[in-house]
Amino acid sequence: MQKKIIITGDGSPSLYISELNETYHSKHGAVTESDYVYIKGGLGHWLGQNNQKKLKVFEMGMGTGLNVYLSYVFSINHRISCEYFSIEKYPLQLKEIRSLNMKVSLPSGEHHHFFDQLHQLEWNQMLSQSDFSFIKIKEDFLNMALVQSFDVLFYDAFGYHAQSEMWQEKALQKCYDLLNPGGIWVSYCAKGAVRRSLEKIGFVLERLDGPPGKREMLRAVKEV
Ligand SMILES: C[S@@+](CC[C@H](N)C(=O)[O-])C[C@H]1O[C@@H](n2cnc3c(N)ncnc32)[C@H](O)[C@@H]1O
Repeated sequence: MQKKIIITGDGSPSLYISELNETYHSKHGAVTESDYVYIKGGLGHWLGQNNQKKLKVFEMGMGTGLNVYLSYVFSINHRISCEYFSIEKYPLQLKEIRSLNMKVSLPSGEHHHFFDQLHQLEWNQMLSQSDFSFIKIKEDFLNMALVQSFDVLFYDAFGYHAQSEMWQEKALQKCYDLLNPGGIWVSYCAKGAVRRSLEKIGFVLERLDGPPGKREMLRAVKEV
C-alpha cells in the first residue's frame, strides 16, 4: 500500500495510507499521542498501581517503532526491567523508516541508537539493552498462537473504519487471554461498540480523557 509522510500537530512525522484513509498516529501529534495513551496511560499507570519493578508488555502493531522506543526510555528513566513483545503483520521497510525521519522528534537523544537498533533487528529475534529486552514478531495477530502472558497490552491497530476485524470480540478476547490477572489493555480507541465488547468479555473499563484531538480513550483491566 502506498504511504505518504505527514507532519502531525506536534511536529512529529507519521504515515498516511490513502487506501485505508488512515494514519499510523494521531494527526494532532504522533509522539504526543503515543506518550499520553501508551506510556503514561499504560506503563505509568501500571507502575503506579503495582509495587513491582519488572513487567511484560505486548504491543499489537509495531508500525514505526515509536511506542517501543518511548517504552525503552521509560524503562530506563524509571529503572524497571521490561520484556517487550511487538507484533507486526505488514512491516515497514527500512528505507520507509529512514525517510520518515522520526528520530528528530524523539526525546532523549542519548538513546536514539536504540531506535536504529530496533529497526535493524531481524524479525523473531531479541534485542537486549540495559534491562529492556525486545522481541519483534512478524505475524498476524489474529492467527498468532503465543503462549505467554503480559502485564500491559498496547492495542494500536488501525482504526475501526479501516480494520473493523481488529476491534471485534474475537480479537479482543485474544487480548484478554494474553493478560495476567490485574493486567491492563490500553488504546486510543473510545468507540462504544469496542467498549461494550470489552465489558462483555470481562474487562473492567475506564473511559479516560483522550490525547489532543480526541475526547476519550479506553483502558481496560483484567480483574484479579
Ligand atoms: C496504528 S498503526 C501502529 C503504530 C505503531 N504502534 C507505531 O508506534 O508506529 C497499526 C499497525 O498495526 C499493524 N497491523 C494491522 N493489522 C495487524 C495484524 N492483524 N497483526 C499484526 N499487525 C497488524 C499495521 O501494519 C500497523 O503497523
